[in-house]
This record gives sequence, C-alpha cells and structure tokens, in this order.
Amino acid sequence: LASQQQARFEAALAKEQKIEAQDWMPDAYRKTLVRQISQHAHSEIIGMLPEGNWITRAPSLKRKAILLAKVQDEGGHGLYLYAAAETLGTSREQMLDALHSGRAKYSSIFNYPTLTWADMGAIGWLVDGAAIMNQVPLCRCSYGPYARAMIRICKEESFHQRQGFDIMLSLCKGTPAQKAMAQDALNRWWWPTVMMFGPNDDSSPNSRQSMEWGIKRISNDALRQKFIDATVPQAELLGLSIPDPALKWNEERSHYDFGEIDWSEFMRVLGGDGPCNKERLSTRMKAHEDGTWVREAAMAYAKKHGGK
Ligand code: ACO
Repeated sequence: LASQQQARFEAALAKEQKIEAQDWMPDAYRKTLVRQISQHAHSEIIGMLPEGNWITRAPSLKRKAILLAKVQDEGGHGLYLYAAAETLGTSREQMLDALHSGRAKYSSIFNYPTLTWADMGAIGWLVDGAAIMNQVPLCRCSYGPYARAMIRICKEESFHQRQGFDIMLSLCKGTPAQKAMAQDALNRWWWPTVMMFGPNDDSSPNSRQSMEWGIKRISNDALRQKFIDATVPQAELLGLSIPDPALKWNEERSHYDFGEIDWSEFMRVLGGDGPCNKERLSTRMKAHEDGTWVREAAMAYAKKHGGK
C-alpha cells in the first residue's frame, strides 16, 4: 500500500497536479512544507514591526493611510499562511510557540532597523520587490493550499512594491537632503535584501529536494540574479547608485555581475545576533501576551454560540 501511495504521489507531481490536504504525502514533504510555510507566516507577522514603527511618523495623511493598509496586509498574509500550514496538521499554537522560543526562523531582513522615512521606501521597493520575485513561482507550488494563498499575497505585494518605489521617487525628486536620505536607505538595505534569497545554491541544503517536489520552482541564485537584473534599471531611473563597485552588465551572460555577499553577516543574523533580533522577538511576544484577552473573548464568544 505504501509503495502504491508513493507512486500515486509521484505521478501527481509529474502531471503537475496539486497535492491537497486530504491526499497522502510523504512525511518529509509534509515536514518541509510546514517548515517553509510557517517560517513564511512568521516573516509576514514579524515584518509588520519595522514598518509599524513609522505609522505615527508618516509625513502626510495619505502616506499614513497607505502605510497603515500595507502593514495590515502583512498581518493578513500571515493569517492565510498560518491557515495553509494548519491544513498539514500543525496548530497555530505549535507554530507560534516555535517562533517565540526561537526554534523557528523568520526572514533575516526583518532584523535590520528602520532609521528614517526613506526606509519605508526602500523596504517597499527592495524588500517587497525581492519578496515578489521569490513568491510568484510559489503560486505554482505543488501543494494546493500554499499555491492558492500565494496568488492573493502576490497581488498585494505588487501594490506594496509600487508604493515603496513611489516614496523613493518623491524623495529623489525632492531636496538634496531628501535625495541623500533615499541614497542612505538604499546603501543600508541593498545587501541585506540580496541575502534574503538564501544561501548560494551549492550551500542550500533544502533546495534540491524542494525543487524535486515542486515546492521551489526557481533556485535561490537564479531568483537573486533576476532581482538584481530587474532592480538596477529602477535605481538608474531614481538617479541612485547601488552600493556595489563590482556591479557591471555582462554582455555575454546578459545579466549583471555583482560583488561578493558577506555570508558571515547572514549567518550571524540567522543565529540571532542581527541588529534587531532580540527587539523584534520581544516586541512580538509582548504583542502576543497583550492580545491574550482578545483570544479569550473570541473563544468565549464562539462557545456561547455553540462553537459556530
Ligand atoms: N532568512 C532566514 N532564514 C533563511 C533565509 C533568510 N533570508 N534564507 C534561507 N534561510 C534558511 C532556510 O530557512 C534554511 O533553514 P532551515 O533548514 O532551518 O529551515 C536555511 O537557511 C538553508 O536555506 P535553504 O536550504 O536555501 O532553505 P529553503 O529551501 O527553505 O529556501 C527560502 C529558503 C528561499 C527563503 C524559502 O524557504 C522560501 O522561498 N520561503 C518562502 C518565502 C519566504 O519565507 N519569504 C519571507 C520573506 S518575504 C516577506 O515576508 C515580505
């Protein structure tokens, strides 16, 4: 029976049919999905914090309304993703416990500080730009609930990317001080964004199996290259310079060559020692504790109405 199930699973993958929650799947496939989807959900929720810091300080009512909506969208993405992971038999409590106890990762990028308003522009333009690059192929992921959640998330991320670029454009068309603020934000966010795609393909332990299972469709390095190729002309349009002296168009490859990534910084941030790791986790845990009464009230309400 086990070999029949395995054969049916492999045949579905070969025919590009989605694997659904009720279908048989190998334990390792389930485990990989729970790992990736829950880490992705945690990234969305932790990702609300660096930008949430700026809602009260947005420079106009319009910018405040946009940022508020954007941060709220990230919360929504976290919820779709937690719900997608729950279909695999894990609970919200288990996932949050793994985050709060430091056992689960979330994206390295959210451990950097947001020092000026231009950081809201740089995050939207670069971080959300990188997120879309990585997430559009996930709409074709072999696991149905994850793939479907990603479709809506990508539509919203595309709005987020444009609002970030719009902030950068306003700053670059503004005073010299505003343009300098935009350049400073690009200088600080460029390399951490390039790292977001994960380790090089030859040092990525999960890639090969995840590609075979159709969870990942494009490799870390290929996505990183696509992101750089797409972003360089946008920086030129803004009149900003990317902080990489080795960045150069390579006619033969039809791609940009770029400089060495400081992987020791990436490993440090993953290991919990980035500029804001402790602050992010403690803010997140406080928000969870402060929200206890809301969860209790929702449970009491559901109980009163027969669990509906
Ligand atoms: N930040 C933190 N951890 C990372 C990062 C990163 N930027 N990149 C890779 N890692 C971790 C992986 O999670 C893995 O750790 P684990 O095995 O303990 O889980 C380890 O580094 C090795 O990396 P890979 O073998 O390349 O891992 P994987 O195949 O899972 O690829 C990737 C990593 C590309 C991030 C993948 O998991 C993915 O596409 N996830 C969904 C997208 C996502 O989570 N985006 C979050 C940021 S976008 C946003 O929220 C706006």
